[in-house]
Amino acid sequence: MASVRLEGVVKRFGRTIALRGIDLEIRDGESMVLLGPSGCGKTTTLRVIAGLERPDEGRVYFDDRDVTDLPPRSRNVSMVFQSYALWPHMKVYDNIAFPLKVRRLPESEIRKRVRWAAELMEIEGLLDRYPHQLSGGQRQRVAVARAIVVEPEVLLMDEPLSNLDAILRVKMRSEIKKLQRKLGVTMVYVTHDQVEAMVIGDRIAVMNNGRIMQVGTPSQIYKEPANTFVATFIGSPQMNILEGFVDDGKLVVAGSELLGVEAEARGRVLVGFRPERVLIGVFDGLVLEGVVDFVESLGSLTIIHVALDSGSKIVVSISGEADVEQGSRIRLTVPRDAIHLFDPESGSAITHGV
Ligand SMILES: Nc1ncnc2c1ncn2[C@@H]1O[C@H](COP(=O)(O)OP(=O)(O)OP(=O)(O)O)[C@@H](O)[C@H]1O
Ligand SMILES: [Mg+2]
Repeated sequence: MASVRLEGVVKRFGRTIALRGIDLEIRDGESMVLLGPSGCGKTTTLRVIAGLERPDEGRVYFDDRDVTDLPPRSRNVSMVFQSYALWPHMKVYDNIAFPLKVRRLPESEIRKRVRWAAELMEIEGLLDRYPHQLSGGQRQRVAVARAIVVEPEVLLMDEPLSNLDAILRVKMRSEIKKLQRKLGVTMVYVTHDQVEAMVIGDRIAVMNNGRIMQVGTPSQIYKEPANTFVATFIGSPQMNILEGFVDDGKLVVAGSELLGVEAEARGRVLVGFRPERVLIGVFDGLVLEGVVDFVESLGSLTIIHVALDSGSKIVVSISGEADVEQGSRIRLTVPRDAIHLFDPESGSAITHGV
């Protein structure tokens, strides 16, 4: 296994700047997820690690070895592509065996390793089939088996579950996490699905527009988002963000006041709070009043859209069923520890909890 380190990696495609200076360290045996919207540079980052793209600036290290100028075959990495990229004219066995044949392993060793990978992925019964005779989920397993059969130092996965239906995705994401743990392999996993990122990542790097916005454990990313981008990208429904003002320990937001605020902030701020942290009723914290605009009952939770008296709209998420009616008045409390303040210019977090 190996640690992977990117230092100041810049990648341009003509006039497009795909990566604008990526610094990222992935620890030995760690599962790191790259999460971000379409076009933010996730696949490019993986391809730079694999050696399929050469950075225009910056260096790539495996442990302390500078691999920036090494071709993919000298790096001992495996990549699972979104499309799986299985060879249609080869049976499953030969697809999995292929990277070992390229490495000129003896036939008996190849058989042993293919059996090992196939058993791990529970596809022993499919070795004689061609890819077109498999379901999407089975193809995905074959692609993973082919990637792990060489026992790579670093396993790279680019949205490997995106072609699967919702139920299979949920099953496979925990299987991939377990597999990574079992193999102890260093993994970089790309997704734009935040729940998948939370399940699979020991840590998550949230990317936007060719930059890393924050690296942290799923819990850190959720509880202490570094800026408004991360705050609103993670969590569903999205974090509410309102304009506010801090003066002399007083936070004013949406026509309400909260005293005793111990933030460094002064003047204009952005006030963020997650829908699931809002309480119905009046308690200690920021009390907001308004009218219920619209209620979505999802069974396990209820999402309430509220038009505040100040004119702002917010979303509240209550676990289970909630006894609220559209058009009725509602009073809500945001507890102090659920309030995040952000700088209105830079979007950077000022404090989590007030
Ligand atoms: N070979 C290429 N030639 C030109 N531009 C490219 C090339 N590869 C990527 N790009 C551009 O670089 C940027 C980052 O692309 P990348 O594929 O890394 O995004 P991504 O985060 O993987 O997105 P998605 O979630 O849609 O797969 C995009 O603007 C993309 O159009
Ligand atoms: Mg991509």
